Amino acid sequence: MKKKLVISTGAGMSAESGISTFRDSGGLWEKYPVMEVASADGFARNPKLVHEFYNARRRDLLKAEPNAGHRGLVKLEEQFDTYIITQNVDDLHERAGSRNVLHLHGELMKVRAIDDETKVYKLTPEALETTPDTVIDGHRVRPHIVFFQEAVPNIEPAIDLVQEADVFVVIGTSLNVYPAAGLLHYVRRGVPVYYIDPNPASVPAGVTVLKMGASEGVEKLAELLSEQA
Ligand code: APR
Repeated sequence: MKKKLVISTGAGMSAESGISTFRDSGGLWEKYPVMEVASADGFARNPKLVHEFYNARRRDLLKAEPNAGHRGLVKLEEQFDTYIITQNVDDLHERAGSRNVLHLHGELMKVRAIDDETKVYKLTPEALETTPDTVIDGHRVRPHIVFFQEAVPNIEPAIDLVQEADVFVVIGTSLNVYPAAGLLHYVRRGVPVYYIDPNPASVPAGVTVLKMGASEGVEKLAELLSEQA
């Protein structure tokens, strides 16, 4: 029986793929007013600007490739029953080959009907950009993204995963945004927790901090975990 490895990733996981983080210097929230382009009020106020913001991020994503950190997590699936919970809206974990990926904040390459949130549509590289007038299947659409001020429906299954983890790993997140940042507190007593980040936020005692980037950190993690598999 393989041990259950649960990994929670943030924007730093994709930094080495050339995707901007949010709060590092030069990050997205330095360039764009977050409440204008990533909040429910912002979308209601100026949907055109929000569509353009996500169109630009999709164009960047098309040029990006999974990095060695993403690929290293796929390799861990050989030894562990591996589940990824990500705050990221990119599809780099999936493109690297990870099979169990749970998105907490939505998916950049998907849109959904404004009048029926159960109707979700995958965008293709050929039809990547949307506007307030885009209609799919008879519905006007919005980014399939959890805006600020909106609920995070996948936090419940995410908490269930963390509570079942035999090993829990946090990679590339500033632990600023809840409820994602709170997942750390749901691990069972005695479960080893690792945190990979070159500029780590403060975390409870007992967490093993690997103060390095995702690619190097995942490689080091694999060495440490091979003793625990
Ligand atoms: N490897 C690993 N981590 C890195 C790297 C790297 N090469 N480069 C930077 N980091 C780390 C930073 O040190 C920081 O801790 O990635 C983290 C990025 O933090 P944020 O930019 O705050 O991103 P994140 O924590 O994912 O933001 C959470 O906020 O704006 C919302 O919805 C958005 O999902 C996002 C959420």
